[in-house]
Amino acid sequence: MAIDTKRYEALKKQSLDVLERNRRHKGEYQYTQPSPSTYPYQWLWDSCFHAIVLSYVSPEDARKEIVSILSHQFENGMLPHMIYWERGDLINIPWGKGDTSSITQPPILAEAVAKIHEHDPDFGFLKAIYPHLFHYYNYLLTERDPRGHHLSGIINPDESGEDNSPRFDSALGLPVSHTLRESLESRVELVHQLRTCNFDAPFCMKEYFWVKDVPFNAILKENLEVLADLSEKIGYPEEAETYRGHAQNIASAMRERMLEDGIFWSTFGADFRKIKVKTWAMFSPLYAGILSPKEARALVDGHLLNPKEFKTTYMVPTVSLDDPAYDPEGFWRGPTWIGTNWFMHRGLMRYGMGDVAERILESSMALLERSGFREYFHPDTGEGLGAQEFTWGALIIDMVERQKHTSQ
Ligand code: GLC
Repeated sequence: MAIDTKRYEALKKQSLDVLERNRRHKGEYQYTQPSPSTYPYQWLWDSCFHAIVLSYVSPEDARKEIVSILSHQFENGMLPHMIYWERGDLINIPWGKGDTSSITQPPILAEAVAKIHEHDPDFGFLKAIYPHLFHYYNYLLTERDPRGHHLSGIINPDESGEDNSPRFDSALGLPVSHTLRESLESRVELVHQLRTCNFDAPFCMKEYFWVKDVPFNAILKENLEVLADLSEKIGYPEEAETYRGHAQNIASAMRERMLEDGIFWSTFGADFRKIKVKTWAMFSPLYAGILSPKEARALVDGHLLNPKEFKTTYMVPTVSLDDPAYDPEGFWRGPTWIGTNWFMHRGLMRYGMGDVAERILESSMALLERSGFREYFHPDTGEGLGAQEFTWGALIIDMVERQKHTSQ
């Protein structure tokens, strides 16, 4: 796609303005709130998105975002998904901790660090933060996979980043049709249960919530490869090899346990029951290169470009139109989100499907132009929904820059 420079420059400026307006300082730390009125804390995967975008214009600010995330790492290596730098009334969940949550979020940290390094190599920084990455990814590979199946488990839907996705209804015991309040209540109830097992993943999984999620594992696989490259850069080739081995094992395990008739399904329980709810998660393995080119083409033609499923005016709805849970305005139950579009854009570029990737980028840009920096959007009308001044729209910068790069 020939990117219209004027159009892109205007959106780029708005994106960077939102990031700057949402930036906060606390002592020596700096972070960005995803939306000051709705999400006034620091979130793990949001901060990785912020760092990726900031790496283009201000690697120093991007590094600060990462340092703030790492500042609250747990002793076992886990990175909490929320850091409460300021105490507020919004989103008070009984995590049992003073200033963080007790669960994590999708592990795109290695990618964020690699992107910063690509734009502004700083070996001192890389070496200093590497042990944090080492412990975080090792935690996901061990504590989250107690039986050595090569798939990392989540213990709460919020760890997927898609808090109210219908993928988790059955695991939570929720009916397909429920209110957001009911979903929140059941997730808070789960937090109370997880406190009884001290958020100790191997035991919490056995007792309460044992989901192996497709995007979480695809993201882990891809990021272990990125981490391997980083390990090599700072002179740890054996570690690089180990991470590449883990990445391959995850890819194989995903194929073995999750793939059926061309679709990867998240699973529930120790016996890997497939959760057959059609969401954008089906396309997340593209991002990690887990499909053959032929499988990828069939998936995209059969589902992503199917008007009965995911082909809407403003792509890509997070739930398939023909799924009973589809709700074009429901939180994670149908609307288009730019964060999930970013993963699919990456995947499609990886498989050489630039035309489909462009369609997703075009939708993302059109949504921001039509409705501003909202949290999510109606996939047919483009109406903006959820939080205001939401930062994820800024990811279009990375999508455009990558696209420019490949067309050169
Ligand atoms: C919502 C999203 C989650 C995100 C958070 C902050 O809870 O579901 O993915 O990290 O908001 O933006």
